[in-house]
Amino acid sequence: MTPDAAGPRATIVVGVTGGIAAYKAVSLVRTLVLAGHDVHVVPTEAALRFVGAPTWEAISRNPVTTQLYEGVDQVRHVALGQLAELIVIAPATANTLAKLAHGLVDDLLTNTVLASNAPVVVAPAMHTEMWRNAATQANVATLRERGVTFVGPASGRLTGNDTGAGRMAEPDEIAETALAALKRRGRGPRSRRARIDEASDAGRLDLDGLRLVVTAGGTREPFDPVRFLGNRSSGKQGMAIAAAAAARGASVTLIAANIGTDALPATIDVVDVSTTLELEKAVTDAAAGADAVVMAAAVADYRPAQVQQGKIKKEHTGERLTVEFVVNPDILAELSAAKREGQTVIGFAAETESDPATLLELGRKKIARKGCDFLVVNNVGWNHGFATDDNDIVVLNRAGDIVMEASGSKLSVADRILDATLSGREESTRHA
Ligand code: CTP
Repeated sequence: MTPDAAGPRATIVVGVTGGIAAYKAVSLVRTLVLAGHDVHVVPTEAALRFVGAPTWEAISRNPVTTQLYEGVDQVRHVALGQLAELIVIAPATANTLAKLAHGLVDDLLTNTVLASNAPVVVAPAMHTEMWRNAATQANVATLRERGVTFVGPASGRLTGNDTGAGRMAEPDEIAETALAALKRRGRGPRSRRARIDEASDAGRLDLDGLRLVVTAGGTREPFDPVRFLGNRSSGKQGMAIAAAAAARGASVTLIAANIGTDALPATIDVVDVSTTLELEKAVTDAAAGADAVVMAAAVADYRPAQVQQGKIKKEHTGERLTVEFVVNPDILAELSAAKREGQTVIGFAAETESDPATLLELGRKKIARKGCDFLVVNNVGWNHGFATDDNDIVVLNRAGDIVMEASGSKLSVADRILDATLSGREESTRHA
């Protein structure tokens, strides 16, 4: 990252509180310094147990103190608070969030935040139970209301053997959010409503209040305890839709078929499934309370008629193996048939047809057959469409008209799909 990318040199206070993720903040500070900024690290006493002051001084190239009563003549907290053009707290513990929400000040960091008008970005890190605790969630809501920007936490491996929501966002993601906040600075604290309006203008947070179910990945149909029939779907496009919708304010349930979802924001509710029948149950249950369903998962059309309890042995099957398959339910067609008033159902069609006109024709037949509101059509092949970061799609409506075409990163395509299918919905049609 170059200083140009981030704009002119700014004074940034990086607060580090007591959590194991403090070591990752070293990389955050380094990125901000390399981006050309004047970075002052303010660790709490507890943070210094994880990473010592010499490391912070070396990385930030500025002196480090935790003490409110050191250099009293300079009124350090007021000086730092007034100097700061941005405050980033990473990791932010549950205790720090609580103190910030209630205006409690008992160390240099909390004093600095209270004495500052700078935008604040926080990257929480804590155990899942602490993050989900009603007290923490209420504090987070209060801080968001006051315009504090949250990045993460992500879901994933925590300090012990446990996994779940609470892992600090990756340093690059925090740096990106921080530098974006820096660019927006000067507007002062904004209310949630103001942020929604503003984000709406910019095409973001326009899905606030929308309840969305997204399926992603590919189902697996077992033959025996060790083998399955699967497909090459990586789940990237579906996960990008889930992430983009969550970033735009939707409350998102992701039904994940055999994919890793650790990198997704913890605000997304993830239900892991493996077979088509499991996916059918999970998505049908979730769809009952949803305003929209996106069926991005690649669903196996057939499953073995019989699943062997033990491993299929070659000595029994010989030179050829014949397996009988039975058809799976067509979940998209079922969801479309059972659709509630005001609910939007979006399907996907990954086709190996490369001729654009024939591809569209296949798409038109498919949307007519499935009965969904929109169909996202893309071309896949041996070397493209799967596990890549880019995509090339066309969105058809029920009448078979093209409502949008997009190509680019799966995240940018995800935003365009949401624009074309959901962003025009009136708030009043939600929760119908
Ligand atoms: N789909 C589904 N249930 C199935 C098969 C597919 O819900 N049993 C959904 C997919 O999630 C996708 C859409 O239907 O949103 C189209 O999937 P696709 O595999 O392209 O369609 P098929 O109906 O399987 O038709 P074909 O494979 O013959 O093209």
